[in-house]
Amino acid sequence: MSSARLIDGKAISTQIHSETLARTRALKEKYGVIPGITFVRVGDDPASKAYVRMKGAKADELGIRSDTIVLDEQTPQAELLALIDKLNRDPQVHGILVQAPLPRHIKEDEIFSGIDPNKDVDGFHPLNVGKLLLGQNPLFKPCTPAGVHELLIRTGVPLSGAEVVILGRGNIVGKPMAAILLQKEKHADATVTLLHSRSRNIAEHCRRADILIAAMGQAHFVKADMVKPGAVVIDVGVNRVDDPQAKNGYRLVGDVDFEAVRQVAGAITPNPGGVGPMTIAMLLANTARAAERGVS
Ligand code: GUN
Repeated sequence: MSSARLIDGKAISTQIHSETLARTRALKEKYGVIPGITFVRVGDDPASKAYVRMKGAKADELGIRSDTIVLDEQTPQAELLALIDKLNRDPQVHGILVQAPLPRHIKEDEIFSGIDPNKDVDGFHPLNVGKLLLGQNPLFKPCTPAGVHELLIRTGVPLSGAEVVILGRGNIVGKPMAAILLQKEKHADATVTLLHSRSRNIAEHCRRADILIAAMGQAHFVKADMVKPGAVVIDVGVNRVDDPQAKNGYRLVGDVDFEAVRQVAGAITPNPGGVGPMTIAMLLANTARAAERGVS
């Protein structure tokens, strides 16, 4: 049986990182500006810790100054908003990222709305989300869907008129992914179907897809018989499954049953090594953009 081409997110993210590095060098040489990003983490979620650590390490490599502020799990929302207000007014801080998920007593939407849209490198502020939906050139696009878009563009996947099926309607991936791909624009113009937990005939919808994007957060949900032969399959999922063999008792798997689906798909992202590195690449490109906007 034939096997799908692998879409190498690691290699494509490396390319984007080198473009970002050229931009941060130019900012420093021409304007004496060092782009800065501040990460805010609330509580002790182990996955969030790992993500923020990875993002910070890559920022440093690219000439982006990064700070991480860690707040106690019990921190009142007002205190987090006050911190954001301070960061909004700090000229050294070009980008602010409050890592989700937040503790239950904090309203995520109120936090994202509190970030200055000009520093919203996550692309979650309602102004940027609204502009994205309206096709009005948002200041920043959310990093994971923007990363998937960039993967599709840079691997030459035709998008105009393509049948795209997205699994998952979350605000971080599914909804903005749909908004990006349905625009009347170059590298978009797709026919987008957004499926969710109440959708009927999920497998049937998936089998129509030229491009299938799985972002619903269920381990190995997408099976081989849900994929049209030759389709492009993008796996955004990061799920913990128990694994007694593993050092920490679990391992991370995607939303796609990779070994089976790769026998049917035309191209597929590995997971890890597909979408994950692209999210970081887009975040740091957004941070360079935030700093560039400050000098032009
Ligand atoms: N949690 C999972 N993905 C993201 C992201 O892209 N940004 C933030 N802030 N939190 C997340």
